[in-house]
Amino acid sequence: MRALTVIPEQASSTEISDLAEPADSDGSVLVETLAVGVCGTDMEIVRGDYGWAPPGHKRLVLGHESLGRVVDAPSGSGLTRGDLVVGIVRRPDPVPCYSCAVGEWDACRNGKYTEHGIKELDGFMRERWRGEPDAMVKVDPALGDLGVLLEPTTVVTKAWEEIERTGNRATWKPKTVVVLGAGPIGLLAAMLGIERGLEVHVVDQMSSGLKPDLVRELGAQYHPGEVGDAVDQPDIVIECTGVPELVFASIDAAGIGGVVCLTGVSPTGVQVALDGGSLARSMVLENKCVVGSVNANKRHYEAGVQALAKADHAWLAKLVTRKVPLEKFSEAFQHGPDDVKVVLEVGS
Ligand code: BGC
Repeated sequence: MRALTVIPEQASSTEISDLAEPADSDGSVLVETLAVGVCGTDMEIVRGDYGWAPPGHKRLVLGHESLGRVVDAPSGSGLTRGDLVVGIVRRPDPVPCYSCAVGEWDACRNGKYTEHGIKELDGFMRERWRGEPDAMVKVDPALGDLGVLLEPTTVVTKAWEEIERTGNRATWKPKTVVVLGAGPIGLLAAMLGIERGLEVHVVDQMSSGLKPDLVRELGAQYHPGEVGDAVDQPDIVIECTGVPELVFASIDAAGIGGVVCLTGVSPTGVQVALDGGSLARSMVLENKCVVGSVNANKRHYEAGVQALAKADHAWLAKLVTRKVPLEKFSEAFQHGPDDVKVVLEVGS
């Protein structure tokens, strides 16, 4: 079968490989892949900056934002042929650590977790894959193709859980949220803010085009420019760019008692000049809290399913700006200014 593979840490190594059918030992449920979203992490892997092949293998199958259809599932599994499913990206470490032992692999304590398409487990950009029933989540058929947005949604349902748990360290009545970055993660984070009844401000660079339009259609306010210009003293700042300067600007912009959630994976080796004392002082005197958030466990997938069900499906559909057939994969990794989510079509 066809699969999009890469040699991790080797730029320009992406190719369509011919792979054997998935082994029965991979799991009792056989899934045919329909579509897989492309995200910044995939771009990094393709550039040779991130990613690990499965032990003993040279190549890694790419792709972690999946949507597939069940071909075969054992009776009693809760899944039947034709069900739409999304594969869970991260699997618990084998020890397991105390977090993975209770299904909180997103908070793995020893770093020995694995991730489909990213770290030591083949991804979903292949025609078929197998997994156990608990390694996938059923998607409402009403969502159809938009199920491919579930994985990025789980990243922000986890982030929102972190924000709310952090905010609730004291009596907390948040009103305003600033989201930095109008990519898929930023827009979905903004959507969850609107679903919570908050006043949402999204900051990005461009002054017109699809992204500002999507923000306004959501009922949020769009600001081209700096994070500090959006609203005074925001209760919540969600940083979705990972750009080091903007990470510190986000902390600076947060209001008294503010919660800053970092979701972007920053590049390393970037020096940032800042007044560390004044930043630290404001964090102490104003009880600010910065929380990093990565990945998602089953609870966040379930919250993601509910968030997408509540969302305006016509708005969600506009997030998928391009669909690229597998054989033209290189086009999927070229990011245009108005691209939000590019999806690779693996099956039909
Ligand atoms: C994925 C997460 C993953 C993270 C770090 C993100 O792009 O959506 O599931 O944990 O990368 O590898």
